[in-house]
Amino acid sequence: MGLYDFEKKLDRKDTNSVKWSFIGEYTGVKDALPLWVADMDFETVPEIKEELSRRAEHGIYGYTARTDSYYRELINWLERRQGFQVKQEWITHSSGVVNAIYNSIYALSDEEDGVIIQPPVYHPFARAVTLTRRKLLLNPLVLKGGRYGMDYEGLEKILKAGGARLLILCSPHNPVGRVFTAEELALLGKLCIHYGVTVISDEIHSDFIYGGHTFVPFASVSEELEQNSIICTAPSKTFNLAGLSTSNIIIPNKALKSRYDSYCEARGLKSYNIFGALAAETAYRYGEAWLEELLGYLEENRNFAVTYFKTYLPEIKVILPEGTYFLWVDFRNLNYNKEELEEFLIKDARLWLNQGYIFGKEGEGYARINLACQKSTLEEALNRLLKAIRKAA
Ligand SMILES: Cc1ncc(COP(=O)(O)O)c(C=O)c1O
Repeated sequence: MGLYDFEKKLDRKDTNSVKWSFIGEYTGVKDALPLWVADMDFETVPEIKEELSRRAEHGIYGYTARTDSYYRELINWLERRQGFQVKQEWITHSSGVVNAIYNSIYALSDEEDGVIIQPPVYHPFARAVTLTRRKLLLNPLVLKGGRYGMDYEGLEKILKAGGARLLILCSPHNPVGRVFTAEELALLGKLCIHYGVTVISDEIHSDFIYGGHTFVPFASVSEELEQNSIICTAPSKTFNLAGLSTSNIIIPNKALKSRYDSYCEARGLKSYNIFGALAAETAYRYGEAWLEELLGYLEENRNFAVTYFKTYLPEIKVILPEGTYFLWVDFRNLNYNKEELEEFLIKDARLWLNQGYIFGKEGEGYARINLACQKSTLEEALNRLLKAIRKAA
């Protein structure tokens, strides 16, 4: 037993949790088990809880500013954990990474410009492109030998055709769990530079890396890539703080940063959440031992789930995640169409998962399982699935 108790189950039903408080309303199945949206069922770092309680006790919550110590802790974290050397003047903020993606699209492109994404990928990317009236350009990942990779030929074709201004990279990749190597990122980055496309690298899952893999921040690959990128990170996934709406946006290129900041300034998007900023600073200062232990717990969950599928459900293929706390599961051998699969998973298996099709049409027939839960919850979920599949056979 380590220092932290990841087996501790907290009842989340009365917390307005999108994961746990509205199960019946959203799914129509009151006792469906939720392993969908990307938040974890673990209590955060004890020091964060203490700091937030201490600050809440004060009773006045007026306007606040980011402190030097916040910047210092963030910069140290990125250097220590990822070998990423960041200067304070590169850092700007946003209430969330999705918000930063919208801000970047608006600030750095015009209506009808092309924005490239690589599905199956985190679904708000496509929505951000279409809602901002940019042109959605799809360069799907390729699946070879059970491992996804990027399609550089496909990408060059899109780039050559002209019109693209931005590419949104998901690194590590949600939902397929790839941790891209420096070579892969360099290849992508070079192509984008050659064709004048700026890369928005969403690195929100970069603290979740399993043994044998190393996370490479896109901007750390070379100075050229650094100067052509917007890096989005946050403490929200890492320390289970998504409700505190705080992220770190890193833009090393002065001109790009100035456009991003001016866009935000002109829309009144410069305020900070006291609790979010405090939690972030505390997380980076005290959270490392907690994260290390959490990673061990998650890796055990990942291995448990992968072995479970291999042993009891070999007809269902899973993609071994190299990072993130997701398992990308291929249900195509069940021969359901996407509506039938959704109905089967919710009504028969009583599982609330992210349906694969939301990540793009390449995700049809798949579903994403959130592994960041207590082992007993994961086991219950897999047992429900096994029972339903056997019953349907
Ligand atoms: C890849 C990715 N980016 C961004 C987000 C959301 O970030 P935020 O809550 O900071 O907008 C998520 C949440 O699931 C995610 O998986």
